[in-house]
This record gives sequence, structure tokens and C-alpha cells, in this order.
Amino acid sequence: MTTTGTAPASTFEELYGHAPEGVWAAPGRVNLIGEHTDYNDGFVLPIAIPQAVRAYVRRRDDGVLRLASTRVPGPAVELDVAGLAPGGVAGWAAYPAAVVWTLRRAGRGVGGADVLLDSDVPGGAGLSSSAALECAVAAAYNDLYELKLEAGELALIAQRAENEFVGVPCGIMDQMASMVCRAGAALYLDTRDLSARHVPLDLAGAGLTLLVLDTRVQHDLADGAYAALRAGCERAAGLLGLSALRDLAPADLPAAFARLPAELVPLVRHVVTENDRVERALDELERHGPAALGPILTAGHASLRDDYRTSCPETDLAAEAAVAAGALGARMTGGGFGGSVIALTETAKAQAVADAVAGAFAKAGYAEPHVYRAVPSAGARREA
Ligand code: GLA
Repeated sequence: MTTTGTAPASTFEELYGHAPEGVWAAPGRVNLIGEHTDYNDGFVLPIAIPQAVRAYVRRRDDGVLRLASTRVPGPAVELDVAGLAPGGVAGWAAYPAAVVWTLRRAGRGVGGADVLLDSDVPGGAGLSSSAALECAVAAAYNDLYELKLEAGELALIAQRAENEFVGVPCGIMDQMASMVCRAGAALYLDTRDLSARHVPLDLAGAGLTLLVLDTRVQHDLADGAYAALRAGCERAAGLLGLSALRDLAPADLPAAFARLPAELVPLVRHVVTENDRVERALDELERHGPAALGPILTAGHASLRDDYRTSCPETDLAAEAAVAAGALGARMTGGGFGGSVIALTETAKAQAVADAVAGAFAKAGYAEPHVYRAVPSAGARREA
């Protein structure tokens, strides 16, 4: 079905022959600092962005799950909820199906639904469009099946859906950011116990802009490399007799390095120093305001580039060009191997910074980056 220019609610009616019962929105995110720390029980500091996935949903009581997307032409994918199994659903439909499967596995007796997804979260840009999709569907099911689950519990369901059904071994950051972030605040999250603090972040009031520079590259190795990095961290923790790398402080590093094979040293150094950067970022933010985050962002990028090796030439160039043009700090955000760079800049310089990055990309022969302004936005909610 081609839906260009048609409101999703009308598309829903055309597809399914009745109106949705409601609309649930769940946002994408950018992470300010704390990259690849979540699967090490560490700390993260994301914000939700204004772009969101919207799920238009009507409950069905016949066990049929119909899934459609305004971005994907063609009829709805039709599935039998009782027959859902990991590996059994291909492509984008696996994400909403995964949430339904996980809720059932968790003993919630949910059934089918008619679902239409609509999204303005750029896909493949490291802005967590998958987590947003999972969270929008989880929030809809929570209301329509009266599950009464808390936001944190829904985030865990969404993460489990991605881990066990889709097969991506992600941490909890993206789903928690999408479910619980608040407008005007960053989410300081301890991923070990999911305790969270909403830290006021008034960028506009401080005369600042947070640019998101989507490099529009996503390297194929991303999935396998992510799993390998996670496995490396878990191996290092095991060799050190720790339950997770979170339990290592910067001062413990020299002694730890002496006990690790050379290839694990840079991974451990990144995770431990990155956790420390999150703590310092929180402290700077609360004491001196958001401008003080700049150098911490830039140091975080260097650690991803040199130690964790999840950056790539495009993200390195974007971060470098932004800082050279006067940004206070810049770093790649998200899982890496492409995706987006965030640059914190005085608002007066934001256009010049964006232009400088576009100019550097043109000179290097890269595609023109897409530029957004990230405003700390609200987490998942029912909109209608
Ligand atoms: C992806 C994962 C997150 C997190 C980041 C890296 O976005 O989904 O859980 O590990 O990468 O910080």
C-alpha cells in the first residue's frame, strides 16, 4: 500500500477496515556519554529525541497479529501469535512480533492486534529506531491488554525481545531511554539495577545546540562486531574474577592489565574510563552546566576510536571537523561502525559547524550528512 501524503489513521482504516483504538509514541535517542557500558553493568547518559515511532493499534481477540508500516509498501504481514518463534519472522516485522512473543513467554496472556507503524526516526543512523519500535508496541500492548507493567519492566521486555527473538545481544540503554526519558532532561542510568535520575538539561537556556550529524553510513560488520566486543568484555571480567567490568575503577587498571591478554587491554580501558566519563559528565553538568560537557564528549570519541575501535573514517571526520569549526565537543553516539556523531556547540556557531562538517564530507567524497538538532524529549506515551 502506498501511503505518501495519507494520515496513518486513514491508512489504518483502509488496511484493516476499522479505526485504531489508540496511538502510542516511543522516541529514538542520542547518548551523551557512556558508550558500550550498558552490557558491562555500567552507566549511561542518554536523552530521548523528538523523532519517534508511532504505533496505531487495535486489539484483536482471535490470536491474529497483523503488522503494517507506512514505510513499507504492500499488504499487512499476518501472523498467528501462538505460532511465533525466533527466526520465524523476517525483516522489520520481527521487531513488533518479538515484543508479542516475549510478553507471552513472560506469562502475560496477550493475543493479537492490528498494528500500523509510522516513524520519523531515521533508520540505520544509530538513533535507536529499533528500540523505539519495540517500545511503542510494548506500550500499546500494556494498555490494550491491561498489563499494568511499569516503564522499566516494559523496557526489559523490549530488550529481551531484541536479544532472544531478533537475535541482537544489545544492552538496556536504548529501551530504557525510549521508555523513561523526560523532556528537558538527560537520563542518568545505572544499568546494573536500573536506578535512574532525570538530570535537567536546558541546552537552549545555556545558548547551546546539540547537533546530530548522521553520516549515513552503516558498515556491514556492525552486528557481528558488537557481539564480539560484548563477548570480549565478558571474557575480561571473567579473567579478572568480576561479575562485570563495571566493578573496576580507573585506579585498578594497571594491575588488571597485567592479568589480561593484550587484545583485551584496550577494551577494558575504554569501558572503565568511559564509566568514569559518565560520572564526570554528571558532576560537570550539575555544577557548571552543559557547556562543561564538551571536552568529555571529545575524549569519549578518542576512546571509541583508539581503544574500542567502533568508530570509522566518516564518524572520525565528522567529530574532528565539528571541533575544528568551534564545537565545544563531539563524539560518535550509539553502537558505532557508522551512524551519527553528536556535536555540542554554541547556538551562534551551530550553522557554521554543520556547514564545516558538510564541507569536509564533500571534500572527502562522502555523502552529504543529514543534520538534526537534538532537543531532550519525552519518553514513550499514549497520544490518542
Ligand atoms: C547499541 C545497543 C545499546 C548500547 C550501544 C552502545 O545502541 O543497543 O545497548 O550497547 O549500542 O553504547
